[in-house]
Amino acid sequence: MIVDRTGSPLTAKDHIKPDTRHGVILYVEDVSVSFDRFKALNDLNLYINDGELRCLIGANGAGKTTLMDVITGKIRPDTGTVNFGQQIDLLQLDESEIAMAGIGRKFQKPTVFEALTVFENIELSLSGDKGIWTSLFHKLTGEQKDRIEEILSTIGLVQEAHYLAERLSHGQKQWLEIGMLLAAEPRVLLVDEPVAGMTGQETERTAELLTSLAGKHSVVVVEHDMAFVRSIARKVTVLHQGSVLAEGSMSEIQSNPEVIKVYLGEDGEETVQETAHD
Ligand SMILES: Nc1ncnc2c1ncn2[C@@H]1O[C@H](COP(=O)(O)OP(=O)(O)OP(=O)(O)O)[C@@H](O)[C@H]1O
Ligand SMILES: [Mg+2]
Repeated sequence: MIVDRTGSPLTAKDHIKPDTRHGVILYVEDVSVSFDRFKALNDLNLYINDGELRCLIGANGAGKTTLMDVITGKIRPDTGTVNFGQQIDLLQLDESEIAMAGIGRKFQKPTVFEALTVFENIELSLSGDKGIWTSLFHKLTGEQKDRIEEILSTIGLVQEAHYLAERLSHGQKQWLEIGMLLAAEPRVLLVDEPVAGMTGQETERTAELLTSLAGKHSVVVVEHDMAFVRSIARKVTVLHQGSVLAEGSMSEIQSNPEVIKVYLGEDGEETVQETAHD
């Protein structure tokens, strides 16, 4: 059951509004996660501002995906708190309630319905939990059609609206999946390695798309592609061994001696270095 901090129950139909009076939409405080004895997250603190675009970088195994797992309710932390706005305690909610509350997550591999058209894929996510047949044979209202068109235009797939999703390129499938997430009007979007496997042009287009989504949504992007990160970066957080090592603008990060030592070399590119597991 979804409750606010005072214990009052909220139902799925309630529009859950995170309290962002202090400008912060996600509060992650003192969070630790252990797998056996290995600490994947170690007293991690992270604050995401309402409407910001945040890049999250760090070596393989630094804890980036685990952090997303904690925020989305896939993993429960051993200690710490995770709040959506000031009041909503995400640790009280399960994965589907967190998604419903307005936190959307894009996994690395696109999961679109290949046998449906681009339009139908969005239509399906717009209708939420009605079930595939009901939603596809249900007549759309003008308002719903407008909303789908708007999403298609945001993700740049207006021309492809009536293509089967299987015809799309890898990059286009990734955009479609972002469009499907947008149908739920999330306040926060978590995107894990969006440009892996994309062409240069697709990568550029993805940078534009994610940048355009900030403001209306808070967007947290995990990515190893430093050229891409540089092209979208405002504030960057570096994770190292499950904690925040540094936070700041890209140039602050690139000139931070600690970051150079453990993650980015002198040239500002990733050094191939695995985080020690013990
Ligand atoms: N379910 C699990 N069981 C055991 N160990 C895990 C599990 N999930 C993650 N880990 C370990 O936790 C650490 C953090 O992993 P995580 O996937 O969060 O890293 P990451 O920063 O996303 O790395 P990458 O850049 O490679 O995606 C790694 O050492 C990983 O092996
Ligand atoms: Mg990862």
